[in-house]
Amino acid sequence: MCGIVAYIGNKKSSHILINGLQRLEYRGYDSAGLAFISEDSKLQVFKNQGKVKDLDRLIDHKKINSHIGIAHTRWATHGVPNNTNAHPHYDNSKNIALVHNGIIENYTVLRTKLIEKGYTFESQTDTEVLAVLIGAIYEQTKDLESAVRNALIQVEGTFGIAVVSSYEPDKIITARRGSPMVLGIGENEFILASDASAIIQHTRQVIYLDDNEMAIITKNHYFTKTIYNVDTNSEIQEILYNLDQIEKGGFDYFMLKEIHEQPISFENTFRGRLLVDEGNVKLGGLRNIEDKLRNAEKIIITACGTSWNAALVAEYLIENLARIPVEVEYASEFRYRNPVINQNDIVFAISQSGETADTLAAIKEAKQKGALCCGIVNAVGSSIARETEAGIYIHAGPEIGVASTKAFTSQLCAFTLLSLYLGRMRNLSSTEGMNIAKAITQIPSQIEEILQNSEQIKKIAVKYSKSKNYIYLGRGYNYPVALEGALKLKEISYIHAEGYPSAEMKHGPIALIDENMPVVFIATRDEIYDKVKSNIQEVLARKGKIIAIANYGDTELAELTDDIIYIPKTLPMLTPVLSVIPLQLLAYYTALELGRDVDRPRNLAKSVTVE
Ligand code: AGP
Ligand code: GLU
Repeated sequence: MCGIVAYIGNKKSSHILINGLQRLEYRGYDSAGLAFISEDSKLQVFKNQGKVKDLDRLIDHKKINSHIGIAHTRWATHGVPNNTNAHPHYDNSKNIALVHNGIIENYTVLRTKLIEKGYTFESQTDTEVLAVLIGAIYEQTKDLESAVRNALIQVEGTFGIAVVSSYEPDKIITARRGSPMVLGIGENEFILASDASAIIQHTRQVIYLDDNEMAIITKNHYFTKTIYNVDTNSEIQEILYNLDQIEKGGFDYFMLKEIHEQPISFENTFRGRLLVDEGNVKLGGLRNIEDKLRNAEKIIITACGTSWNAALVAEYLIENLARIPVEVEYASEFRYRNPVINQNDIVFAISQSGETADTLAAIKEAKQKGALCCGIVNAVGSSIARETEAGIYIHAGPEIGVASTKAFTSQLCAFTLLSLYLGRMRNLSSTEGMNIAKAITQIPSQIEEILQNSEQIKKIAVKYSKSKNYIYLGRGYNYPVALEGALKLKEISYIHAEGYPSAEMKHGPIALIDENMPVVFIATRDEIYDKVKSNIQEVLARKGKIIAIANYGDTELAELTDDIIYIPKTLPMLTPVLSVIPLQLLAYYTALELGRDVDRPRNLAKSVTVE
């Protein structure tokens, strides 16, 4: 959450910073702000509530002659979204400005101490405490680097920060713990950002800062060290995606673009990994832990949100194909409930962004208990990718829409590959493996087929868009898809929606059914199809409205409801990859009909870097 971008170099910084913020706006959009060091070494701050475009209007770019600046787009944790709480925050002398991503957990203690010493505060944020503390220490040390370092040593919690000061007008200082910070290395210029999407336009060479690492950056030089003053030697890496992957490419919203990318993004997940003729899979990122995987007695998967829904499908997949017991845990709960982890258990953390604070905390907890931790991650070089010993990149490409879509289907693909791999290490036959592998290769064109049907899904979305509630039901592999469908609708349309296993409906939710309740049933042909059909009858008997996701040729269901969306047939274990597509489109078109800002749903941020 929250996006930071900073620039130092020969170019004028104001446009670069605004463009950078626009790329990062999916991380937060409560307020936005900038701090510049002008040519006469003065510190200037502009900030206001609202979106980056509002900030852009506030700035007279012609008048700003600056080559150094820091910028921020906020997702508020402490203090309402208003102008005062917007970043950057000043120290008391107003000569130091700071932007921050994360939470200073001991801010009340620090604030009280500073107030006792006579320092004052303007905002309600935790961030301002850090800015004032740095200023207070600077009064003693007269050295910005040591002031930042000494302040950070006193901080509990998480931070990604960037600091500029008129005291030392030719430098930017950055540091991180728990929140991402990437330093782009250009020619006589540096661009610092919360993620590479704000950097790629300028350079592909980047350094991903480590926890408790800081960088001191001037126009022609940078060096890194820990906040404990030990020199570090960070490796320069290359950004692996292209600019067009983070642009809308003719679509109205990133979400729609990403939904339509799924035939390709899904293929990118299995490309070069699937050995169809052997019915097996090659996963380079797991090679080093092959023996441990062979001896695994239990797999624990931990994640949040959509990634957690994907993990739930994985529970069915792995237990079915590899016969290894699987537990799926909300990362936010895992850390606090003293989980039992035995010697041969393996923990998989799954995350699109690779930066989710709850998931990172769960990994740290599991590691402390001696578990082997693996990652299934989209963002290359992200914190979770680096915190885990082995893993699988899903290669879905950058996902910008706050509502996750292509990452979900790629996560499902990665889990299918993992299950096949684990299964073939055990009792799964090559014939069975080959069947699954072949079915995987057909998925991209099957997704394409569903996407062709968007107009029909749009009509259904419009028809039910005035509904106040929605229920999503599915069984077996499609139960997590029901959860995911409901989550998508909630996130972007703000319609209340619940997902349940179909058969659970009669244990409570059935009380909600009346003529105003649309019920989305995932009713594809598998061994529990007949049971789902009975559940549909139960809803119809109570006048509920059915929207069915069914396989082509299902005339029986067509007789029961007008609103039926067909998808191609695949193996039951792969159905979620297809059944979720109409649900993504249903949520998208509903939100569109209701006039919602699809890529920036209220209260949400793409990457949840606070616990
Ligand atoms: C998905 O649509 C949500 N925005 C959210 O639930 C998300 O999946 C969750 O925050 C986890 O994110 P991650 O995959 O980046 O860890
Ligand atoms: N805690 C800070 C604030 O509320 C930063 C939040 C963030 O990371 O977005 O302003």
